[in-house]
Amino acid sequence: MVKILITGGAGFIGSNFVRYMLDTHPDYELLNLDSLTYCGNLENLRGVEENPSYTFIKGDITDKDLVFDVVEDVDYIVNFAAESHVDRSIEDPAIFVKSNVMGTQVLLDAALNLGVEKYIQISTDEVYGTLGEEGYFTETTPLAPNSPYSASKAAADLMVRAYNETFKLPINITRCSNNYGPYQFPEKLIPLMISNALEDKALPVYGDGLHVRDWLHVHDHCTAIDLVLHQGRDGGVYNIGGNNEKQNIELVKLILKILDKPESLITSVEDRKGHDRRYAIDSSKIQKELGWKPKYTFETGITETIQWYLDHQDWLETVKSGEYQNYDEKMYGGR
Ligand code: NAD
Ligand code: TYD
Repeated sequence: MVKILITGGAGFIGSNFVRYMLDTHPDYELLNLDSLTYCGNLENLRGVEENPSYTFIKGDITDKDLVFDVVEDVDYIVNFAAESHVDRSIEDPAIFVKSNVMGTQVLLDAALNLGVEKYIQISTDEVYGTLGEEGYFTETTPLAPNSPYSASKAAADLMVRAYNETFKLPINITRCSNNYGPYQFPEKLIPLMISNALEDKALPVYGDGLHVRDWLHVHDHCTAIDLVLHQGRDGGVYNIGGNNEKQNIELVKLILKILDKPESLITSVEDRKGHDRRYAIDSSKIQKELGWKPKYTFETGITETIQWYLDHQDWLETVKSGEYQNYDEKMYGGR
């Protein structure tokens, strides 16, 4: 039986990955280790708890004793656990270094200790810095992170690389573009704009709104990670992107149009410090080497995603009210 440790599996991408893996590989055993920070939410995994192939452990990846204690017989580690919001990293960089860099290092030690078949680091295109109007990030683009968040992710990537070079730990690093889809915490652009529009609240667009992001549906991200896990070449870095570049303002207007809300809700606010202008991924390596292809067009993906938030306003309300933390406390407070 294949056993996979998924860290950060109660967050946005991690919870989608848990669901995806249980559906796609029902014979695998999944262990989800998550410390349930403000965005780790067991409501994202409602219904999954009953699955006998799934186990949840509340714990911090920086806690070496705990990690070494609870993680046994694991064949693969997929590390999603991280502080993930750029704006928060500008306010408080320290926790980003702790969770993203030191946490990764603990997991790498655990991976070595367990002799896993492979360790997968879920990274980001933000490690490459920013692009001008032309060009794409490839796997050989030099790392040039601009925010404390992306700097912590780049540092973690280098540590992963070093464990591969020095200790021959089998690894892959994946670097994806901005994800969207169900269960994304409404501090990120798409769910925040949907949530505010539903309440007829102002939609805060940073600066001139002409910054570009390359949107990837979370389900397409999961299929790519699954391929890398099983077929990725040892030591390889794989860029994963949706090839859907949109200016923020264009995207916000599209959301308003789909929700039939007025553009007068858009409010221009002060720009983010060090705001990266454009991200765009060249994902030809994973397409050629592993045969990956995104399934979603942006039009289908965004329409389905908006519908999901419309159908799950109770989830949105619970998350915004912080009530999910009561749920987590109720479920796992005593552990
Ligand atoms: P998220 O913030 O929704 O979830 C992160 C999860 O990690 C949460 O469940 C949280 O409780 C957990 N966590 C945080 N610190 C922890 C710690 N010290 N120990 C244990 N668990 C901890 O993030 P996400 O959007 O799902 O992102 C997942 C991964 O993908 C991150 O590594 C992020 O850097 C990367 N990524 C995300 C995007 C995106 O668009 N969301 C894009 C590129 C890369
Ligand atoms: P975000 O979802 O925070 O992802 P990232 O910064 O990791 O790309 O932001 C996506 C883009 O949207 C980014 O250019 C910043 C912008 N943005 C706004 O204009 N307003 C907002 O309220 C937020 C959260 C983001």
